[in-house]
Amino acid sequence: MTRLQKTLGRLVKAPENFLSKEDAKAPAEMRRKFLAASAATAGAALATAASAASNPVTGQGDPNILTLPDHTKGLGMPVAANGYGVPSQYEKGLQRRESPGLTRVSAASVAFTPLQGTFGMITPSGLHFERHHQGWWDIDPSKHRLMINGLVKNPKVYTMDDLMRLPSVSRIHFIECGANTAMEWGNVAVPTVQYTHGMVSCSEFTGVPLSVLLEDAGYDKKNGKYVLGEGADGSSMTRTIAIDRALDDVIVAYGMNGEMLRPENGYPLRLVVPGIQGVSWVKWLRRIEVGDQKWATKDEAVHYIDLMPDGSHRQYSGMQEAKSVITSPSGGQLLLDKGFYNITGLAWSGRGRIKRVDVSVDGGKNWRTARIEGPVLTKAFTRFNIDWVWDGAPAILQSRCIDETGYVQPTVQQLRAVRGTRSIYHNNMIQSWKVAETGEVSNVQVS
Ligand code: MTE
Repeated sequence: MTRLQKTLGRLVKAPENFLSKEDAKAPAEMRRKFLAASAATAGAALATAASAASNPVTGQGDPNILTLPDHTKGLGMPVAANGYGVPSQYEKGLQRRESPGLTRVSAASVAFTPLQGTFGMITPSGLHFERHHQGWWDIDPSKHRLMINGLVKNPKVYTMDDLMRLPSVSRIHFIECGANTAMEWGNVAVPTVQYTHGMVSCSEFTGVPLSVLLEDAGYDKKNGKYVLGEGADGSSMTRTIAIDRALDDVIVAYGMNGEMLRPENGYPLRLVVPGIQGVSWVKWLRRIEVGDQKWATKDEAVHYIDLMPDGSHRQYSGMQEAKSVITSPSGGQLLLDKGFYNITGLAWSGRGRIKRVDVSVDGGKNWRTARIEGPVLTKAFTRFNIDWVWDGAPAILQSRCIDETGYVQPTVQQLRAVRGTRSIYHNNMIQSWKVAETGEVSNVQVS
């Protein structure tokens, strides 16, 4: 037995149905209920484990080893039992979830990615967060068209077949809604990392570089300064993108993680605007217009603007600055033992690659540099890990990332000093998780 095994700490996952409508209003009460419930379950589990297995490493006395299970003796399921594979029945609890009470109707809402339960840098397509302004549609690709018009010599209309015959690229990028972590500007508001940070996901996107289509349409190189992306849903989602960015790394994408886009994520066509807030990643994309000035549409003049402390608003601030979060241990989880824990989390930056992630277990007094798990890609999730032995004393876990431009993720005080407390968008503050003596992990903000 290695030292590591002797001291391996056990962790109880956050209850997956964390937020009922009532709970959303009273996080403190919810935590109290949760602790009482999980203490009872943990006690029962420990009692069973103790009587069943005296030595978990050699397996002596463990019926899970001594009694041959059916799956070792019988014939398993045939191939293609699931024509399109689905997760194990034992993983049912891991789901993207709506935060109750966030919006009045679910068609104009968010379902958050369960960051606490995903590994590596890719978000499984079925767990990719969803944000719709007027519901999602499963659009017939044979009827879907993409028009390129405005300041172009040859206005174009493409079918999906046309687009899929053009030169394509596949790139891994994160997408983060500008409103991610929005609830935490003034105070601690939600209990788990799914709800504090789950409006971000990372996938491999496949499609045609927008530059190829703009060239094909003969865009006006002198006067064409911006493009407008327009969606085919009822929200009339329209966003201005500067032509330099449009020609740089923007993709008109039909693929996600090796398959066609999921309907919730814009099937059959969406914009991928790496590093820029999710609202510019127009889904169900039907039109690109080239113009000589910004359009100031409702989704860029009234919504998705930053309220500053002096009452003014900042427009066109789409960049998603460097941000990181520890996904485990994280809010709602419970540490059962003193001992070894792998602290793991994610870091990303709209400006490029992540250079370093530091982790503190004492609320920011001391920092250690985490192990970065490669590959480290530009404008993509970067997974980090670091060893930690919990001695049973209260601790405050934080991560702080630095990107390749040298930008350092700010503390909550640094961010508030510039942006105030009443903003909604672009909250990239350092997240703190408090581990209490009881092992309960909760969302806190430290000064
Ligand atoms: N595009 C259209 N047509 N309609 C929308 O409601 N929502 C935007 C953007 N594109 C939206 C849209 C917002 S606010 C975000 S954050 C992202 O899509 C979310 O993308 P996802 O649902 O694939 O995660």
